[in-house]
Amino acid sequence: GNPEIQNMYEAHTWLAKLYHHLLRHTKEGKDGYELLQERGLSDETIDTFQLGFAPNSKDFTKKFLENKGYHPQSMVRAGLLSYNDDGQYSDRFRGRVIFPIRNHQGKTIAFAGRSVNGGDPKYLNSPETELFHKGKLLYNFDLARGEIRKQGEVVLLEGQMDVISAYQAGIKHGIATLGTAITETQAKLIRRYVEKVIICYDSDNAGVEASYKAANILRKAGCEVRVASIRDGMDPDEFIRHYGSDAFRNEVLDNSYAYMGFVIQYLKRGYNMNNEGDRIAYIEKVLDEVSKMEKPIERDYYVRELAAEHDFSVEALEKEIIDRRKKQG
Ligand code: GTP
Ligand code: MN
Ligand code: MN
Ligand code: MN
Ligand code: MN
Repeated sequence: GNPEIQNMYEAHTWLAKLYHHLLRHTKEGKDGYELLQERGLSDETIDTFQLGFAPNSKDFTKKFLENKGYHPQSMVRAGLLSYNDDGQYSDRFRGRVIFPIRNHQGKTIAFAGRSVNGGDPKYLNSPETELFHKGKLLYNFDLARGEIRKQGEVVLLEGQMDVISAYQAGIKHGIATLGTAITETQAKLIRRYVEKVIICYDSDNAGVEASYKAANILRKAGCEVRVASIRDGMDPDEFIRHYGSDAFRNEVLDNSYAYMGFVIQYLKRGYNMNNEGDRIAYIEKVLDEVSKMEKPIERDYYVRELAAEHDFSVEALEKEIIDRRKKQG
């Protein structure tokens, strides 16, 4: 192929090795190594994901790449160096833990760099390049692919720390989009491999909102979606650290909601269930969703549940469903 593109791949491979070596075996990488140890990652996990550390220097990486014979200009195109206003090239990732981002064939094509001292931004990712298209990439898909096939399901997590933590805990079919909403392209890609998706995002507000959006995009792509819910406002990584892998499997993954169960909870936001008007408005919204369900027994199940919980008659709710289905044609 194109020799410049080839160089861009190679430079990533070199740097991933270098950063990983610095983190594992040198004083320069100590801050990064300590952060990962505090997060409970074993050396084996650090090696599996080739986690590394980029020294806090403006030209360490630049000099390394120059010595290897790569042109700074081409390394800017690769997203590995910055070109500054003063006409100087400099390191893009400085003083950050490095998470290599591999494409679906297992080649490193980008980096995510996490600050170690609370610096802003928390994560600095490679920019969009000819190698790295964020909206098409599923983090860890190369390692997870076999297990996804075997289990017939995939676990969609929010961040790379969640994926790595889950992997270490033996949940090896986890993937993530990197800090962005899932795209239609990513959803279709998932569907090519598997139908069942368990969404397991952070349990904060942002995570719940993102779960609802992701669930709808994935369903549109033909996936059967479940949504896991984590207690105590934690994210999957924190939950695994606090309660262990068995609890994560049994209480979170195996306890996930079917899509409609999640939606019934999700739509409650913003309504006061002690207020009659709110309760009716809420039920109307839920019935919009239930009426779209294909299977009569599923519709029946939710109608009964809703009638009991909110003190409506089954007959009234059934009639609402029939009206809606007539309109839908
Ligand atoms: P940790 O504190 O390392 O556990 O991070 P987290 O993964 O829990 O981060 P968070 O839940 O805040 O965000 C989820 C994902 O969004 C991260 O894994 C990143 O991929 C991405 N992300 C978070 N913060 C930033 C940021 O400041 N910039 C960018 N570009 N992405 C971010
Ligand atoms: Mn190593
Ligand atoms: Mn989050
Ligand atoms: Mn998080
Ligand atoms: Mn986290």
